[in-house]
Amino acid sequence: MKRQLIIAIDGPSGVGKSTLSRRLAQRLQYVNIDTGAMYRSVALAARRAGIALDDPKALERLCMDLDIRFVRNNGAEKVLLDGEDVSEAIRTPEISLLSSKVSAQPVVRSAMVRLQRQMGENGGVVLEGRDIGTVVFPAAEVKFFLAATARERGRRRYLELREKGLDVDLERTIAEVETRDAADCGRQHAPLRQAEDAVLIDTTRLNIDQVLERMLRVVAERQSRQSQNLKEDRVS
Ligand code: DC
Repeated sequence: MKRQLIIAIDGPSGVGKSTLSRRLAQRLQYVNIDTGAMYRSVALAARRAGIALDDPKALERLCMDLDIRFVRNNGAEKVLLDGEDVSEAIRTPEISLLSSKVSAQPVVRSAMVRLQRQMGENGGVVLEGRDIGTVVFPAAEVKFFLAATARERGRRRYLELREKGLDVDLERTIAEVETRDAADCGRQHAPLRQAEDAVLIDTTRLNIDQVLERMLRVVAERQSRQSQNLKEDRVS
């Protein structure tokens, strides 16, 4: 039997992590964990509770009480926050900016990292975020780092939001992507960076299927190397 791996996917916003993580998990029949959705859920809960983002005590209490779950409903993945389906509510531009701010708070990060480790420790998971291969699971068997220019990522986000019927502006969306990049890469705690042993894929000129095929090839290589190692261990 193939061993159930931990697969980490990191990269900046709008690079295609969510779609690829979901598709990869489906192909491998693994569980998909969108860690950005967890920070977004914290941001939404903080806003609803009127908690200031520079109040670590209140944020810590909030994180301790939050129940964040991922469920599959008729094939669609949903995020439940204290039982409420917040999958749409956490995707607005306002929550995007707020989530970038709450994710810079060490108390929020340590609460989310703990939860992510519990969710993934048994393997058979694809986790996507910013610090999966560097902080959450530094020993993950497979690590990917996805990259694309800010312009291309902004364009993709713009098309996605337009498709949902939101009234957005292209240049503004690109500027928002750049602002979040600066915040995610420049923050003091767990800034976005590529793990040394991550496989880098530049998706600027690749479509989703092309990236997915590359990822599946890397996973298959790791799986066959692992079964080879297992056989050798048994022989020696
Ligand atoms: O991937 P996303 O756009 O849904 O992430 C929302 C915010 O959360 C983003 O500003 C970066 C932050 N984030 C993080 O700091 N660490 C993660 N593992 C995932 C997301």
